[in-house]
This record gives sequence, C-alpha cells and structure tokens, in this order.
Amino acid sequence: MFRHSQLESVKASLAHPAHAAMPLHARIQRAIRQLILDGTLGPGKPLPASRALARSLGVSRDTVESAYARLHAESFIERRVGSGSFVAEMPEFTPGHRRSMRDALLRNQAPNLSRRGNAMFRSGGVSEMLLPRPFAHGVPETRSFPLALWERLERQVLKEAGTQALLHGDPQGTPALRRAIADYVNLERGARATADRVLVLTSSQQAMTLCANMLFDPGDRIIIEDPAYYGARKAFDAAGLDCVPVRVDRQGIVIEQIMDDPRPTKAVFLTPSHQFPTGATLSLDRRLALIEWASRNQAWIIEDDYDSEFHYAGKPTACVQGLDPYDRTIYIGTFTKSLFPGLRIGYVVLPPQLVKPMAVARTLLDGHTASIAQLTLARFMEGGHFGAHVRTMRGVYSRRLGVLAELVRTHLSEFVEPRVPVGGLQMPCVLICDLSERVAIDAARRVGVELLGLSALHADGDGRPGFLMGFAAYTPDELEVAVRKLAKALRTATG
Ligand SMILES: Cc1ncc(COP(=O)(O)O)c(C=O)c1O
Repeated sequence: MFRHSQLESVKASLAHPAHAAMPLHARIQRAIRQLILDGTLGPGKPLPASRALARSLGVSRDTVESAYARLHAESFIERRVGSGSFVAEMPEFTPGHRRSMRDALLRNQAPNLSRRGNAMFRSGGVSEMLLPRPFAHGVPETRSFPLALWERLERQVLKEAGTQALLHGDPQGTPALRRAIADYVNLERGARATADRVLVLTSSQQAMTLCANMLFDPGDRIIIEDPAYYGARKAFDAAGLDCVPVRVDRQGIVIEQIMDDPRPTKAVFLTPSHQFPTGATLSLDRRLALIEWASRNQAWIIEDDYDSEFHYAGKPTACVQGLDPYDRTIYIGTFTKSLFPGLRIGYVVLPPQLVKPMAVARTLLDGHTASIAQLTLARFMEGGHFGAHVRTMRGVYSRRLGVLAELVRTHLSEFVEPRVPVGGLQMPCVLICDLSERVAIDAARRVGVELLGLSALHADGDGRPGFLMGFAAYTPDELEVAVRKLAKALRTATG
C-alpha cells in the first residue's frame, strides 16, 4: 500500500502541467520510479494492487497495469503471482548506495569543472518546490492572481509595440519598467532611486551572484548575517569569498563586532526589513551606524529587500539605501514574492558608478530580461494594479499569519514556540521538546508537510533547533489540515 503522501505525490505528478503531453501510464510509471529512486519506497515494499491504485487515481486498471509492466521491464519492481508487486531488492536502491553513487558522481565531476564551477555545483544550488505544499516558505498566493488583467495588459503591449517587442531589449531594462520601479521604491521604500540607476534582472539571486563576482575577488572578506539566507550564502561562497558570520538579535545584525574589527572588509550583506529567517527588523541606529562604517571603510552594503511589501504591524522602516548619503548601498528587490515567482523579474538600484559595469556584465550572463514580461509589468505598475494587488495580498497574508499562529498555539504548543514576525511570508518556530530538528522535519515530510530547519541556516549549522513555516500560499483550511497532520506526526515521533 502507498502512504498518503506517496499517493499524493503520484497524483501531483499526474496533474503536473509539464507532463500533460505524456500518456497516463507513463506519468504513473515515472512517479513511482521517482519514489523508488528517492528511497521513499524502499526495497521489498509492496505496491498497491492495480485495481486499488486505479480507483485512487481515477484511471482505468489497464493504465496502472501498463505502468507496472514497464516498471517491471525496467527491473524496478518484481511481480509475484498471487501476492502482488514489490519494489525490487537491488543493492543500488539502498540509500547508502545511492549516497555513495552521488558522492562518486560529485568526485568524478570535479576534474572537469573549474574551481569556481565546482564550488557552484557543490553548493547544491537553490532548489524551489515546483508544486509548493504547506509549509514551503517564501511562496506567495498565486491562485488568486488577476491573470485576466495581466493577459489584457500583455495583449495591449503586443498591439502597441508590435514586432518591436520581439527584438532584443536594453540590457539595463526597458525604460518604462525602470521608471515604474524607481517611482515605487522611492514612494513605498523611501529609496533614493532614479530610472537610470535601476538595473532590471531576472531575480534577486542573479543580483547576488552578479555582486559576488563583480565587486569582490576570491578571498575577500564580507560579513553576512548569522543565520543567513542560504541563496546569498551560496552565491558568496561559490565566488570564493571569505564570509564572516555575525550574530543577529531581535534588532537585526549585531554591529559591535563589525565596528570593532580592524581587518579590511569589503561588504556586509543584510535583509534589514525582515531578517531571513528570524524576521527581525534592523533598528534605525544600527542602519545609520552601518552606513557610517561602510563610508569610512569604502565597503558596500548589499541590501536584500525581498519581501518588504508585506509588513503587518506598524509602518515598515525605510530601506537602508534611502538613508545612505554616501552611495555605498546596493538595493536588491524582486517581484517573486510581491507578484509571482514564475515572472522572473528582480532588480537592483545601484550607485551611479556601478550601473555601466553591472549592465555590461549581465550581457555575458543572459543579455537582458524578457521584454514582453517587462513591458507588461511596467503597465501593471503604472496602472496602479501593483499597488492594489500588494494591498489585497497584505490583508490576505496578515490574516493567514494570524490563523497559523493560533493553530500552532492550539495544536503544537507542547512542541514549539512560534515567533510571530511583523512581516514576511513565513513564521519561525523554535523547538521546545526533546525531538531533534531532523527528526521533526523528517516526520513532517512523511506526512506531506514541508518545513525548513533553522539550524542549517546558521554558519556552524548548530543554531537553536526549529523550523520555518511558510503561510502565505495556503488557505486557512489548508493551514489547519497541515498543522493537524504535523501535530500527529510529531506526537508519533515523540513515541
Ligand atoms: C531572503 C531572500 N532573498 C531572495 C530570495 C529570492 O528571490 P528571487 O526569486 O528574486 O531570487 C528569497 C526567496 O526565498 C529570499 O528568501
């Protein structure tokens, strides 16, 4: 028999739009093969009877039979007359063997890659969930996005720009979008931006990689928050930088260590609006002190303002860039959280002297961001739809955060303490029971619930155990179902 989460993952694969062109039996075959390769279905495990699986998936028995026949032909499963189908007993399916295969693969790849290439590969990259489920973090609600409006604006763009929109665009970004972004960050984030200082990119991740490679040499020392956003840490590590972790408290990064350190430091990386993952807001006196420090040391402040649109309590603090009269701050923004991740549009507001070098460098990476999407987004912003969408979603997310906090207090109080943030799309929780973070996360995953562990976000991998719970992309009902499942899973894990 399949566990609920295994059945759900086969169903998700069946429904996945990317598999739409594949026959049903091939989709089922692929999904089960993946469960076997992942180790989710171990050797000797029975598969459901074809009739039962066909009923659960809403397909014919022949379809399941044909998927099983292919898995059998590929030696992934054994079929025993009278007793059913089982995952084959093959040494290469054991988790230990797979791990050593992966390590060998990594080792074997090493000689073919540059040192930089190896560092990028070994970082494991940043992998996003294609079909997010509670409590995957950092995901906005996309199901209620005004798609019809977006489509209408895109049609207008194509009608007006015609085939011009099909040609190459300005590597710095279309002027209309740069103007809209500058107006937005000036008004809403207190930035000091002009359209000619905005560089439109595909993401904040691209901005971080660009900064890491354009501003620093391998071995250069930069300060990062501890705990830190893994995407930033990986971008800086892969560029060979010496990342020095500095502790974060309730007011953001602790500045004494930075101020007192005589060693030359090239930059500090910050998520000042809602520190990732703690949710702390960097206090004004620390912002000002860091600006003075950066100016004195000719260091850069890299400000990742990834989800500041969603601030629920009081007024959000103005961004560091807007407070910095010395132009030492590089402001990074993204539409991944405020609109939708598939859009792939992020941006930087740069000090004037960096605009040209950064725009040239990005032509070596990807030329420019897709023009039709940029023009549509510019129209969306100019027409006031962006502001309206953010206001609506702020209300939705604020209510969802309230619901999640209450659910955690009601059902999980023996296990965790919620740290309700003032903004953002996820809530950190610290473990207050005997369960280890790993055991809790694994128990959750077995019942189809995603948690991101907090310890691994600390430089020594040893922070206070806990996890992040994303809430923005899930309705109150979905949150409740997942919290109840999680409570049950943690209770079982405690024994
Ligand atoms: C702190 C932080 N910065 C940046 C990003 C990534 O945004 P983008 O999709 O623009 O790379 C994320 C995504 O989770 C994030 O949490």
